[in-house]
Amino acid sequence: MRSLALISLAWVGLVNAASASSDWDAAVGKANDFLSQLTLAEKTAVVTGANPLTGLGCIGSIGPISRLNFSGICFSDGSSGVNRADLTSVFPAGLTTAATWDRDLMYQRAAAIGDEFRAKGMHVVLGPVAGPLGRHPLGGRNWEGFSADPYLTGVAMDHSIRGFQSTGVQAVAKHYIGNEQETQRTNLTLADGTNIDAVSSNMDDRTLHEVYLWPFVDAINAKPAAVMCSYNRFNQTYTCENSKLLNGILRDELGFEGYTVSDWYATHSTEDSINAGLDMEMPGTTVPGQGVSWFGDRVAAAVENGTVSTDRLDEMVRRIMTQYYLLGQDITDYPTLDPSSLSVIASQYQQELGSLVTNPPARDVRGDHATLIRQVGAAGAVLLKNVNGTLPLVSPANIGVFGNDAGDLTDGLVYQDPPATNVGFEYGTLDIGGGSSSVRHTYVVTPLEAIKARARQTNARVQYILNNERLAVGDFHSIYPVPDVCIVFLKTFAAEGFDRVSFEADWNSTAVVNQVADKCNNTVVVTHSVGVNTMPWANHTNVRAIIAAHLPGEETGNSIADILWGDVNPSGRLPYTIPVQEADYDIPIANLTSDEVTYPGAWQSNFTDGLLIDYRHFDALDIEPLYEFGFGLSYTTFELTTDLSITPLSSAAPDPLPAGNQSNPLTDFYAPLVNVTAQVANTGDRDGASVVQLYLSMPSESTPAGTPVRVLRGFEKAQLATGEAKSVVFQLSRRDLSYWSTVDQAWRIPAGQFQVQVGFSSRDLPKSAQLSIL
Ligand code: BGC
Repeated sequence: MRSLALISLAWVGLVNAASASSDWDAAVGKANDFLSQLTLAEKTAVVTGANPLTGLGCIGSIGPISRLNFSGICFSDGSSGVNRADLTSVFPAGLTTAATWDRDLMYQRAAAIGDEFRAKGMHVVLGPVAGPLGRHPLGGRNWEGFSADPYLTGVAMDHSIRGFQSTGVQAVAKHYIGNEQETQRTNLTLADGTNIDAVSSNMDDRTLHEVYLWPFVDAINAKPAAVMCSYNRFNQTYTCENSKLLNGILRDELGFEGYTVSDWYATHSTEDSINAGLDMEMPGTTVPGQGVSWFGDRVAAAVENGTVSTDRLDEMVRRIMTQYYLLGQDITDYPTLDPSSLSVIASQYQQELGSLVTNPPARDVRGDHATLIRQVGAAGAVLLKNVNGTLPLVSPANIGVFGNDAGDLTDGLVYQDPPATNVGFEYGTLDIGGGSSSVRHTYVVTPLEAIKARARQTNARVQYILNNERLAVGDFHSIYPVPDVCIVFLKTFAAEGFDRVSFEADWNSTAVVNQVADKCNNTVVVTHSVGVNTMPWANHTNVRAIIAAHLPGEETGNSIADILWGDVNPSGRLPYTIPVQEADYDIPIANLTSDEVTYPGAWQSNFTDGLLIDYRHFDALDIEPLYEFGFGLSYTTFELTTDLSITPLSSAAPDPLPAGNQSNPLTDFYAPLVNVTAQVANTGDRDGASVVQLYLSMPSESTPAGTPVRVLRGFEKAQLATGEAKSVVFQLSRRDLSYWSTVDQAWRIPAGQFQVQVGFSSRDLPKSAQLSIL
């Protein structure tokens, strides 16, 4: 053992409490001063989006009020880079970021994205995403968020919000809440004018608190400017007019001080929404065929007829403007809006804007972010199989590259509006999904390009076939001689608005892998995927290595070459479970035929799985996964070299939290109660990073039915030189050790023995210990 260092898990706040509160007071003061000068019409304009085409040129904007020198607020997607703009970077998706299990990279990625938003003159990032969480493995937007595990997603939300806001842009935690499927995510109007409501996500209070709300609590703790309510209904009521969710939980229970904003056309009423706690409507304009605005003049009318109080409207304006001032967005040298964004929006809406026949020059905001993108892309790649050290490659002389995911894009550099299908474009590597969280590429380094560049360094040959139709029927006649290694690239697309229909990777992937592996006894499969796949070919004897590389962003080829050649030792871990077969995941997307829609509210999705999604489902039913949650290999090996040590942080048992409304919930909630210490060592012959994970099992005799077998409650990524060992300390908070009591309406620590297990995945937990608090 070369050294022993201590990794502390305590979060060090960015600002100290005293300056935070004086900044807050100053921001409220400025907001009040601004508010006091507004007419009723101006107040309604601050709470209602302005037309994107005539407004600031953003996907959403609050219009300027020039007599008060207020230049407006620009809202833009999305969570993986600046969407609908030119000369911006395509960052790794949220899913890829979660697969790094690296807090520091989560923060750095968000700070770099935030830099680009600010440099474009935008004020609000419409992200990060904790809903969908990933209840459905085929959910079309799972990749925009992080992980199907609430704890891991919570950590990623916290670091992303702090990262975004460290650059002075506002973060919006979205989509709140239960937005787990794209199918019927919003209401639709039939040809005869009948309204059919959005799907209702129906869940009990414990499931809400312990699964879907959990990452939003971490979000609120990081103080995002805003929370976006989602399209769906929640227990029959649209989230944007759901008083329990907006007033009750966000404000009263969690003490959220920012503002709420609707998803685009997710508002369905005026006073009902406002009195339920909705502060801002987006996009705020009525566009036939797209949606209706319920705010604007209707807000003024509601105030005039008394159904909305002036105090409530003032509170909405105050909440919005306080965040604007708190983040210093009123400063005179805040970057002006990049004019290119208006033309990108315009071309996207396919409108003729007269004078905008030529594109104004875009401001290049990419800086040196490519380096970080390449790093996060590699760190989010998960090595699933590696027989006899197949990887890293050692100077192969003849490399085969196969599959339609390996090469260049052939249908343009943007997936914003993919063809109306859920598999996207046939040719071209997949580094980001489609829809509002997609980003316009300025370039993409393809896997084939990066592999060719590596091969040139050693004068190696690269042969390739990118046509999956040809591969699927085993037409390899152009290949001679048989390559030393055959690398197959598969892709699985998803975009907002659709759910996936297949667990297998797209484009006949199983036939492609089997055909290549039948002929090449050293086959490596790399998947670029939006999430969970089945891998029916995983146990083919000639499939010697598998990497789930997720969606790595524009440097994708370099990221994967770094892993294949071993410049980067793989350290990603699965943020979800890969099943042996799709039937092992038993949570179908609600999907009604038109005959089944017998009344407008017919779309119902009952979350009867409760707390048991992803690995909790597999553990509860004792189903053997193909690759379990938290799993990932390295080119080196790690061991836990001591037993766990448990250190209570207080001699007395904590007082129970008050039932019902909690005055200062987050402080008490996050109070650390116990430290668990483990020691991890690198026992192999390469430097590398281990992700040590802590899972907790609650005492079954004192927790309600439906409690998972074990839940993730800590992780730490430890960089270790060969032979090095480090102590890893997991600090368990009151929240980590509590369940939500529906009877008390409070978090409760169960009496009895908890089992703590520490190891390298949800199924590889070599060390365990018991602890009790009460
Ligand atoms: C999406 C949001 C997005 C908004 C603006 C909506 O369709 O659900 O995630 O922020 O559009 O583009």
